[in-house]
Amino acid sequence: MGILVHTTPLPSQPLADALRRADPATPVWTEQDRFDPTAVEAMLAWRLKPGIVTQYPNLRVLCSIGAGVEKLLRATDLPIDLPVTRVIDAGQAQAIASYVLACTLPFVRDLATYREQQRQGRWKRHPVRAAQQSRVGILGQGHVAQAVAAAFTVLGYPVAVWGRSRRSWPQWRSFAGPQELPQLLQQADILVCTLPLTPETEGLLDRKQLENLPTGAYLVNVGRGGVLVEEDLRDLLEGGYLGGAALDVFEREPLPANHWIWGEPRVLVTPHIAGEPSPEVIASACLEALRCARSGRPQPAAVDRERGY
Ligand code: OXD
Repeated sequence: MGILVHTTPLPSQPLADALRRADPATPVWTEQDRFDPTAVEAMLAWRLKPGIVTQYPNLRVLCSIGAGVEKLLRATDLPIDLPVTRVIDAGQAQAIASYVLACTLPFVRDLATYREQQRQGRWKRHPVRAAQQSRVGILGQGHVAQAVAAAFTVLGYPVAVWGRSRRSWPQWRSFAGPQELPQLLQQADILVCTLPLTPETEGLLDRKQLENLPTGAYLVNVGRGGVLVEEDLRDLLEGGYLGGAALDVFEREPLPANHWIWGEPRVLVTPHIAGEPSPEVIASACLEALRCARSGRPQPAAVDRERGY
């Protein structure tokens, strides 16, 4: 009994190698290998079409290779009692927090102006906007959102977080539920989206919601592309309503070559690199999920399939 690495269209070999290094006793196969389908106990995957999981009658657990699981949950034929797990990795959350700071600080400290002045050989000082004047709003309350919030807090930025249900955060202002989303947005000079893609979040950041942001606000999306209505962002940037954006995730990935965002100077485009768990972390999460499934222990990184994350 063993693990099938089924990560099409992403490469599976680095993950298969990491699993074998971490647990040489457990057989590991990729889709290219010959194996007995009844021997597959765990599957490590990124996206699944219907008709795949049902080929493995003894599957005990389905593990995502990342933090997000929406592409796995799209398979409509997942057995109702099949546990699905995701990767919860503090290292990934820190990497994403550093990405968010790297995108945001040049904007709030107006480094583009100084770059231009440098080009002109011009020494001119502008008033510095104090950290307290740039209010940060974070959508999401998971481990990534918390790492981003903590990173801004250390630098003195006022932070507020928003989630679907209320949690108490002594150090951050907290907003919850659809009715409080406009309030969070109205006081977010910097908006950071860490939300997963679920039926509730799809298209959540549309023109109507984004218009709640203060004029000149900056948006960073490290959650999922489908949460943001890209055409609405375009209108708000062109209308001078938003100051800029950094997008690491998109409705369609890879971003199509003719997409308008490529040519938009106010948007920083990166190809879903803000942070990803290492093969070692993914392998260890998958092996732990398999151990839990075998022993009947609760899954530490179980996905709530109803909620979608
Ligand atoms: C993701 C990841 O789910 O990179 O996007 O982990």
